[in-house]
Amino acid sequence: MKIFLCLLGFASALSPVCSVQAAYASQENNAKQLSPSFNLQGKKILFVITSADKLGTSKMKSGYWMEELAAPYEILSKAGAEITLASPKGGLPPVDDFSLRKRFLSDYIKAFKKDDTAQKKLAKTIPLSQVKAEDYDALYYPAGFGIFMDLVENKTSIDLIESFSRAHKPMAFLCQAPAVLKNVKNAAGQEIVRGLNVTALRNSEEAGGAMLRPYVWLIPPGMEAIGNDLTYKREKLPEKEFLQKMDLTDKIPFLVENMLKSEGANYQAKPNMASFTVTDVTGDNGFLITGQNPYSAKEIAEKLAEVLQQIKVTQ
Ligand SMILES: *[C@@H]1O[C@H](CO)[C@@H](O)[C@H](O)[C@H]1NC(C)=O
Ligand SMILES: *[C@@H]1O[C@H](CO)[C@@H](O)[C@H](O)[C@H]1NC(C)=O
Repeated sequence: MKIFLCLLGFASALSPVCSVQAAYASQENNAKQLSPSFNLQGKKILFVITSADKLGTSKMKSGYWMEELAAPYEILSKAGAEITLASPKGGLPPVDDFSLRKRFLSDYIKAFKKDDTAQKKLAKTIPLSQVKAEDYDALYYPAGFGIFMDLVENKTSIDLIESFSRAHKPMAFLCQAPAVLKNVKNAAGQEIVRGLNVTALRNSEEAGGAMLRPYVWLIPPGMEAIGNDLTYKREKLPEKEFLQKMDLTDKIPFLVENMLKSEGANYQAKPNMASFTVTDVTGDNGFLITGQNPYSAKEIAEKLAEVLQQIKVTQ
């Protein structure tokens, strides 16, 4: 049934979508485009990565999404920032194998894999319980499904984000990672995202990912967008039905787009797989930067670098 629907999508969506897709891919792959103007010497940035390798009670493997870790790591460290990697359990965090597929391979991932310092830090991530917010100038959460399991309801993570926010330090969350803001409050006790402009993975993109995973062998690299029009129809379904149709029931607790809207955020998004980030100022007077999807990994790192370079953090 799903194969049939994918192929239907293929026929109707193919031509316009594939050229757009190719344009993003070439942009994405050019690590050398990195603007040399960032100078983050002396800045310390904390990355928080999921330790969860399975989704809910299912056998579906999970972890972090490689591009979302690799691109910001390479961009920010090359600009001179000192990066610390942390995770709930500490040690080597699990990577979502799917994100290692050749179709998603970028120059950032290649550089990250060859980066000895990065690999050493990754093998020994610091347990979240040992992290002190006051030691860092900025915070970044990459996604991967795992964050739904060990970071959304995690008191240590919630307290950490609240500390950064109260200290007016810039915070960035990519793709599904804005889900970790669900229980975070500002100093006035309100949901931190209420009234703010934010983005995160679109429901249509979550649908696209779920459709692509089992049938990835059928779909040529560079054509991830086939069936896009079907994903835009799916995104209008009630959440329960959406999760059922996408075989995500009992795997993820909610859809991040829906959660942000229900908490009163002004959710914004571009078409599937476009690079997009949004910056707003929280009730605590801190910068909140959100990015839509893995294709926004470069842009979110550059936005964080821009903000970090401009502001003077006062403790
Ligand atoms: C939350 O983070 C703490 C601190 O790192 C960790 O010990 C704990 O296992 C995490 N909770 C969950 C549900 O993963
Ligand atoms: C929030 O988004 C709206 C458009 O929806 C825009 O007009 C407004 O300037 C944005 N606010 C900030 C603080 O960027």
